[in-house]
Amino acid sequence: MRHLMSPLDFTTQELDRLFDLAGDIEHNLQKYAHACDGKILATCFYEPSTRTRLSFESAMTRLGGRVIGFSDAGSSSASKGESVSDTIRVISCYADICAMRHPKEGAPMVAMEHSLIPVINAGDGGHQHPTQTLTDLLTIRSLGGSLGGFTIGLCGDLKFGRTVHSLIHALVRYEDIRFLFISPEELRVPDYITEMLKSKNIPYEEVTSLEDVMPRLDMLYMTRVQKERFFNEEDYIRLKDFYILDMAKMELARPDMLVLHPLPRVNEISVEVDNDPRAAYFRQAQYGVYVRMALILTLLELT
Ligand code: NCD
Repeated sequence: MRHLMSPLDFTTQELDRLFDLAGDIEHNLQKYAHACDGKILATCFYEPSTRTRLSFESAMTRLGGRVIGFSDAGSSSASKGESVSDTIRVISCYADICAMRHPKEGAPMVAMEHSLIPVINAGDGGHQHPTQTLTDLLTIRSLGGSLGGFTIGLCGDLKFGRTVHSLIHALVRYEDIRFLFISPEELRVPDYITEMLKSKNIPYEEVTSLEDVMPRLDMLYMTRVQKERFFNEEDYIRLKDFYILDMAKMELARPDMLVLHPLPRVNEISVEVDNDPRAAYFRQAQYGVYVRMALILTLLELT
């Protein structure tokens, strides 16, 4: 039985197969409409989510399966003090596969160890968010042409942004990728990530000015300042509007640069950018459904 805890749980060849399947799903949605007939997905979300939870629900529903679950810890038995390991033992009796989000780093791994069904990490604290990474990789592959041979700027909250941490880990396995980390000093990418890049001789730069590096980017991955992970509201207020991508900045960019964002957006991309053909974030959300459909089929061994 396979689970998904980190994007590195799949080899790059396995990811290629997953993305090929997602591509087939995109173009032949009807073919998969009954692929999960009779199967149940449990969504166990101990932390708020719109996109991830609903995209899992949409994915399973589009496959003909059904969904059960809870969308906040307060409405689950966690509020009575039940452990994650007990909850998953019970969910294993009710469902065929489980997607779990938890504010504590490592909680989905604990669930995996006690589970009788495949568990998907749908985000654990500031740690990892592998299905967002699969979404990001599929978007880059589909709209950018290939996974490799580009300069990507990651901008915003690189300290707490789990999507950033997951994506960097996944991208280092591809050829010829250059990283530009664009953040205020307080929200720099964690040292363990820059140490990992150094040990693999992968080029990266850390800068604070988005304008300065804009012309060099093939891709810009914008992120929200992660309010819920701040200890102090003043720091959040000071940093939340540090970067705002607007049309003036877009004019400095290449005509084919892609703008990605895991969403939700707050102020970091002004709405005027939405109509620019380079804005790919809503298409990215659509790819998120196809890749989760492919993932559910793969983990349930229905391919
Ligand atoms: C991200 C997350 O939850 O980490 N959202 C998502 O799943 N698409 C990014 C964020 O919340 O900023």
